[in-house]
Amino acid sequence: MITPHIIVLGNEKGGTGKSTVAMHIIVHLLRDGKKVASLDLDGRQGSLTKYIKNRNLYAEKHGISLPMPEHLAVAASSSFTEKSIAEDLKVLDSTIKDLKKIADFIVIDTPGSDNYLMRAGHNYADTLITPINESLIDLDVLGSVDPETQKISSPSQYSQTVWEARKFRAAHRLKPLRWFVVRNRLSHVDTRNRHVMDKVINDLAKRVSFTALPGLGERVIYRELFLKGLTMLDLRKAGVDMNIGLSHIAARREIKQLMDTIEE
Ligand SMILES: Nc1ncnc2c1ncn2[C@@H]1O[C@H](COP(=O)(O)OP(=O)(O)O)[C@@H](O)[C@H]1O
Ligand SMILES: [Mg+2]
Repeated sequence: MITPHIIVLGNEKGGTGKSTVAMHIIVHLLRDGKKVASLDLDGRQGSLTKYIKNRNLYAEKHGISLPMPEHLAVAASSSFTEKSIAEDLKVLDSTIKDLKKIADFIVIDTPGSDNYLMRAGHNYADTLITPINESLIDLDVLGSVDPETQKISSPSQYSQTVWEARKFRAAHRLKPLRWFVVRNRLSHVDTRNRHVMDKVINDLAKRVSFTALPGLGERVIYRELFLKGLTMLDLRKAGVDMNIGLSHIAARREIKQLMDTIEE
C-alpha cells in the first residue's frame, strides 16, 4: 500500500489564499482521478468547510455531480486546559489515521493564527504550501525584512514553527517536510514590485529553506467561485454554467504548474 501524501496549507496570516489554494488543489487531484480527503483545522473561519458545503449545494441545485473530497473538520475546544489540548491533539491524530486509510492525498487547511492545532497540523506535512500575498508587508511572515535596504534581519515566528515541524519529523523518522512558498494575487502590471519581491523571496528561500513558486494571478472571480463552491478547474465542465471568458485557461495552467512541481 502506498502511504498517502499529506499537503498542508499554512501561513500565520489570514486572507493570503490558503483555503482558495486548498480547494483548487483538492479539485485538481479529484479531477486527476485521485482519492482525496480534506481536513479543516480552522475552526473559527471554517472557510474550507463552507467552500465544500457551497459545492454540495451547487451540485444539488443544478442536479449535477461534482467530484467531492471526503471532508472532516477538527476544531480547538474553547477551554485551553492542558487536558483539553491533549484531547484535541488525540482527536487530530486519530482523524488523520482514519483519513489515511481511504485517501491517496490528504489536504489540510490550517488557521491563519498561531495555535496548537495549527502547529500540530504542520507536523503532518509531507508538503507544506504557504501562499503569500504579492507584497513586501506580507513577507514578514517568513522573516523580518528592512523596507529600505530589503535585507533580512531575522527569521519570523512562523519560520520557527516550520523549523519545529521539521525537527519533529526528523525525530519521528518521517519524510523531510518540503516547503513551497506560493505567491498569490500576482499582478500583471506591477513589475517593479515583482522584481523587489523576487529578490527578497530568493534571499529568504536560502535563509529559511523553501522553494518559491509563482502561484495564482489576481482575479476577482475567486470570491464568486467560493460562493458557488466551484474552482477554476470546474469551469467548462458538464453542468457548470459560469462563463468567465478565457481567464480560466491561464488559471488552470497556474494550478497545473504548481501541482507538477509538488507531485515531482
Ligand atoms: N488570486 C486571488 N485573486 C483574487 N482574490 C483572491 C485570490 N486568492 C484569494 N482570493 C480571495 O481572498 C479572500 C481570502 O482568501 P482565502 O483563501 O480565504 O484566504 P485564507 O484561507 O488564507 O484566509 C477570499 O475572498 C478569496 O476569494
Ligand atoms: Mg482560510
